[in-house]
Amino acid sequence: MVGPSEVGVGPWEGDWPDDPRLDAELLAGGDRRNVVDKYRYWKLEAIVEDLDRQRNPFHVAIENWQHDLNIGSVVRTANAFLASEVHIVGNRKWNRRGAMVTDRYQHVRHHPQLADLASYAAERSLAVIGIDNLPGSVSLETYDLPRECILLFGQEGPGLTEDAHQICTAVLSIAQFGSTRSINASAAAAIAMHAWIRRHTFAQPPNS
Ligand SMILES: C[S@@+](CC[C@H](N)C(=O)[O-])C[C@H]1O[C@@H](n2cnc3c(N)ncnc32)[C@H](O)[C@@H]1O
Repeated sequence: MVGPSEVGVGPWEGDWPDDPRLDAELLAGGDRRNVVDKYRYWKLEAIVEDLDRQRNPFHVAIENWQHDLNIGSVVRTANAFLASEVHIVGNRKWNRRGAMVTDRYQHVRHHPQLADLASYAAERSLAVIGIDNLPGSVSLETYDLPRECILLFGQEGPGLTEDAHQICTAVLSIAQFGSTRSINASAAAAIAMHAWIRRHTFAQPPNS
């Protein structure tokens, strides 16, 4: 039986390149990392530097009072959509498995309390936008998401805490139509991040 072919590229073939961004070990042994083709053979620091030049001005934050297993997946999606930073509020430790090593390329900052996240946001004029289907929330589908913002998510079970709610400019809910009360927090994070992408990277310029 033939299994799936290996991901990535094998050892470099042809003349040895002298690009300082490239990693000699990867060139010699091949690059099997889960990175887009542009970054094949690049050093980790060179990739992060390149990403830093292009990051989108939205941030993502998630409450972590009970070691939520969704955080890894949120970090991976934040990397895919090139968020400025991911903020973990509460416990410092989080389960990295779901991140699939994307946390190496994504800035992740810890805040012990929501007040610390609120100060960070205020210092940078970032609107904190809660994402939850709490009473009083408004529709994500029609809300005009600000460009510079922090999308703040709650955790499985309790959802956004009252303290989190207090620091939000608005709380947005994702429309649901079935019987479940909510969707998985990392699925909600992916939807909200993509809503930001649709609004701010694909928006038509006025009068076009
Ligand atoms: C599993 S939900 C739990 C809380 C939810 N308020 C409830 O009543 O069951 C965990 C997190 O996922 C996100 N989430 C899940 N479903 C959502 C929805 N329909 N709209 C917005 N956020 C949602 C929110 O960030 C929420 O804090």
